[in-house]
Amino acid sequence: MTSLSAPITIVRPEIIEFGVGVAAKLGKWAGAQGFSRALVVSDAFNASRVDILELPGRITVFSQVKPEPDTDNLDLLLSVANEARADLIVGFGGGSAMDLAKLASVLSGSAQTLRDVVGAGKVAQRRQVGLAQVPTTSGTGSEAGIRALVTDPQTQAKLAVESIHMLADIAVIDPSLTFTVPATTTAATGVDAMAHCVEAFTNRKAHPMIDLYAIEGVRLVGHYLARAVADGSDAEARAGLSLASLYGGFCLGPVNTAGGHALAYPLGTRWHVAHGAANALIFPHVLAFNTPAVAEKTSKVIEALNLKAAADQASVFDATFGFCAGLGIEMRLSALGVPADDLATMADDAYAIRRLLDNNPRELGRDDILAIYQAAY
Ligand SMILES: NC(=O)c1ccc[n+]([C@@H]2O[C@H](COP(=O)([O-])OP(=O)(O)OC[C@H]3O[C@@H](n4cnc5c(N)ncnc54)[C@H](O)[C@@H]3O)[C@@H](O)[C@H]2O)c1
Ligand SMILES: [Fe+2]
Repeated sequence: MTSLSAPITIVRPEIIEFGVGVAAKLGKWAGAQGFSRALVVSDAFNASRVDILELPGRITVFSQVKPEPDTDNLDLLLSVANEARADLIVGFGGGSAMDLAKLASVLSGSAQTLRDVVGAGKVAQRRQVGLAQVPTTSGTGSEAGIRALVTDPQTQAKLAVESIHMLADIAVIDPSLTFTVPATTTAATGVDAMAHCVEAFTNRKAHPMIDLYAIEGVRLVGHYLARAVADGSDAEARAGLSLASLYGGFCLGPVNTAGGHALAYPLGTRWHVAHGAANALIFPHVLAFNTPAVAEKTSKVIEALNLKAAADQASVFDATFGFCAGLGIEMRLSALGVPADDLATMADDAYAIRRLLDNNPRELGRDDILAIYQAAY
């Protein structure tokens, strides 16, 4: 683990604009690049404020992105995209909007379908349109990455597409766009950003080049999340979280998440628990489970969060559970509408997510997973 000699590939959007009030820089960039037909991929809330981006030319707004989008939602977007004949696609929203924008940028006008591109490196051709990402939550870091997730309604599984062709030309990160995120979503998405960092930091594939971002992302969340939950217009706290989210995105590309996200996914796909809320609920359980395998790094995480805990699993659990619960996050599965008799099926589903479980520093067996769900109930 954490070997300097391990090979690693880093990719980033060519331009990253960051700062309170930078949203309109997207329009300036688009104009300078000669783009004149933008398709903005957005949820209903963000679709109502597309003007902030000051995009030039004709603008088509797709306002129907759903949280945790499924393949039907993508198909609807693709039909709009095929009509719009855009030269620039803009993801404007949370991870859900940005992920659908990535997929539309490579699938619209292509002979390939979603099924053809699920997996890594399956997109055959460079995309024909520009791609810009503008996050409005601080959680997923999707603006910086090459992955997109969409739910298959038949199997309830998340389909993951990974392609260098889905890397944005520009990411415009304006923390003021997140001022309107409600406190509960702020808390949950903030813990999601931290979970990306922690799961990369304690990962079997952890790498010193990424550890730097990972531990700093955890520190930023420890420092600023409670402040942003208490006062959504605290610009410094919001900027700290936008940065933490971006750093989490840097972690996802070359290292990715592990057990925490694998156990969180069935909550979202089977019971429609929001991605951030699911990850926050699972986070202390998996961190504590992994502690014996990554003791030193776990204590660095605790320290970065400004928490006090002994090195044992119970102390790690209590400290991080208290951190999440203190932010007002619901930490009981039973309170999220998950029926007790589904826990075994959820454990089967989570155990099948090998692409993430194989990254976990400690082997998580199917019974370990069930025990965690039962403890979280
Ligand atoms: N591509 C990746 O690397 C990656 C990483 C993590 C998660 N994801 C995916 O991202 C999705 C979750 O994204 P998310 O957590 O950002 O949530 P989201 O995009 O689903 O948005 C959550 C809710 O917040 C609303 N919203 C967004 N911005 C707002 C704002 N500024 N003010 C008020 N409301 C606002 C949305 O309308 C929506 O109802 C999941 O599908 C998950 O699988 C992708
Ligand atoms: Fe996540």
